[in-house]
Amino acid sequence: MTDQNANGCSCSGKAKKACTVNRRQFLFASGATTFAVMVAMPTRHGQAEQVPALVSTYPRKLIGKLSELEQDVPVEFYYPDEGDYSDSILVRTGVESGGGIGPQKDVVAFNLTCTHQGGSMYDSYKPEHKVLGPCPLHLSTYDVTRHGILVSGQAYQSLPQVLLELDGDDIYAVGMFGLIYGRYDNLIA
Ligand code: FES
Repeated sequence: MTDQNANGCSCSGKAKKACTVNRRQFLFASGATTFAVMVAMPTRHGQAEQVPALVSTYPRKLIGKLSELEQDVPVEFYYPDEGDYSDSILVRTGVESGGGIGPQKDVVAFNLTCTHQGGSMYDSYKPEHKVLGPCPLHLSTYDVTRHGILVSGQAYQSLPQVLLELDGDDIYAVGMFGLIYGRYDNLIA
């Protein structure tokens, strides 16, 4: 049996189809950062029970135009808000990159706060190696072609990647992959 709630969410009565809110519904939640959905939770008796849940959503923010991006020239922006540690860059690397968008899948974006102890990675992009770093504090360096994975230094977590969408020529930030340094929730500064 399928129910439709006020958010347009389709939920089945079976736990394995817990909730089918699609990505668009998450992204276009009228600017709200949370909304309620019904999800199916398994009970002790192997049945499913519909329970309410709050879902946090990222803002969909226009951050640039594909036609205006020059290879290896980063463009700065703030995401997901303008609070602490939200400095980020958008860059066209010129090589296919993990999570990249555009015809060459080479446009990526990253938060600029080092995951080790919060050093600023501002102005540290190295086009010759496609990395951000070294961090001025303890030299951590991150590969922007491989989802911001650490390639050297003291950190042990990848640099958070900003998820992107391309709509015509417009580039939108739509989410984050990884926790921003200094936050316990990316959406609460
Ligand atoms: S704060 Fe960046 S390596 Fe320590």
